[in-house]
Amino acid sequence: MAQAAASSRSGGNRRFVYVVASVAALGGLLFGYDTGVISGALLFINKDFQLNPFLEGFIVSSLLLGAMVGAAISGALSDRLGRRTIILVAAAIFAVGAIGAGLSPNVGTLIFFRFLLGLGVGSASALVPSYISESAPTDVRGSLSSLFQLAITIGILVAYLVNAAFASAGEWRWPLGLAFVPALILLIGMYFLPETPRWLVSKDRDEEARRVLSRTRTEEEVESELKEIRHAEDVEGEQAGYRELLAPWVRPMLVVGIGLAVFQQFVGINTVIYYAPTIIKSTGLADVASVLATVGIGVVNVLMTIVAILVIDRIGRKPLLLIGLAGMFVSLGIIGAAFLFSGLSGIISWVTLAGLMLYIASFAVSFGPVLWVMLPEIFPLNARGTGTGVSALSNWGANFIVAQSFLPLVALIGRPAVFWILAGMCIVAALFIYFLVPETRGRSLEKIELDLRDRMTVGS
Ligand code: BGC
Repeated sequence: MAQAAASSRSGGNRRFVYVVASVAALGGLLFGYDTGVISGALLFINKDFQLNPFLEGFIVSSLLLGAMVGAAISGALSDRLGRRTIILVAAAIFAVGAIGAGLSPNVGTLIFFRFLLGLGVGSASALVPSYISESAPTDVRGSLSSLFQLAITIGILVAYLVNAAFASAGEWRWPLGLAFVPALILLIGMYFLPETPRWLVSKDRDEEARRVLSRTRTEEEVESELKEIRHAEDVEGEQAGYRELLAPWVRPMLVVGIGLAVFQQFVGINTVIYYAPTIIKSTGLADVASVLATVGIGVVNVLMTIVAILVIDRIGRKPLLLIGLAGMFVSLGIIGAAFLFSGLSGIISWVTLAGLMLYIASFAVSFGPVLWVMLPEIFPLNARGTGTGVSALSNWGANFIVAQSFLPLVALIGRPAVFWILAGMCIVAALFIYFLVPETRGRSLEKIELDLRDRMTVGS
């Protein structure tokens, strides 16, 4: 409360941090759109290019492979060249990728441009959270960083809707090409936005950092925040990038970052996001109902992310994760059981659907936003890009593994067992979070960093 009052005293220009976060979050919109658009588009690409299952899979997974590469290189590059610079490069890649994919004359070209789009998506996942987090005032940092995830969910929903709109025309080029519009807005918007004050201080450009901070903070706030960043930076010293990331006091946080990133995928979110229509259809619902239910999942995903934004800075990251995992555990159990009894009665289809809705709601209020909020928070300034990048790379790697193994596993051990394995993953994830993940709510990035350093140094 007191914090909220203090922030409203800090003047109207505080609004600019929302502009900064919203423009950067367009990177999330493209992430969601480009990953969400392909399942629907594939139906019609298939008609034009005569795909076999291998090529079909490759069109989907080329983006995931590109995202791994993008995440791996962009984070480290951003520690050296700046968050804003690399987001600008990613925006240009998004724009070229969208046009190229939409105009592709053959499968090879399409796969190439999907890979290129992946580079953009991976870079956005590694950079946008750090960019927003480093620009945000502490008391609203969680909400602002969650805008990235909100944009992802909106991107997925818009992709479902655009696909539906073009479906009767059998069109796939427009849905793929339309991503050019947000890419261009991101490119132009980022051009006018400043570099983050924290990255500037890490390069000893304190005067520029002061100028950036003073656009959104009172004079008093600027000086105290600058002092805090400078102090943490002095304690950190010259070491940067991978070397800093592997320093004994940072290594536990690398484990936390990679663990969170991998569990976010291993609880099975993209089996639902990518295969929702297939799963729903297999419950026995009619085609139209399946399409509507898929859109319903997209809507619940957006709405529950908004709920997370409203509460994340009040109830904290860890409680939100644990509550969400409990919901995911229960719903995956229900979905598995419903598949076991499917065919016995029409009601079972609706039970599956209710399970899917509870699952998506639980993910959207917790693991969806909290992962991207926490990644930049747990790494020290000099290794933030690199650490977030390595974690994002693990997220895309885990995504790839789950996406590739879901259908073969279903064929091998059946749907109920697959969903129960995912439920088991929720328990392992909850234990990992409960015992190893620190709470970061309400502390400045520098305070989190210095506290962790103290804890690790005392512990060693
Ligand atoms: C995950 C994506 C997922 C999306 C669903 C993101 O946080 O990283 O893999 O598709 O949430 O909303």
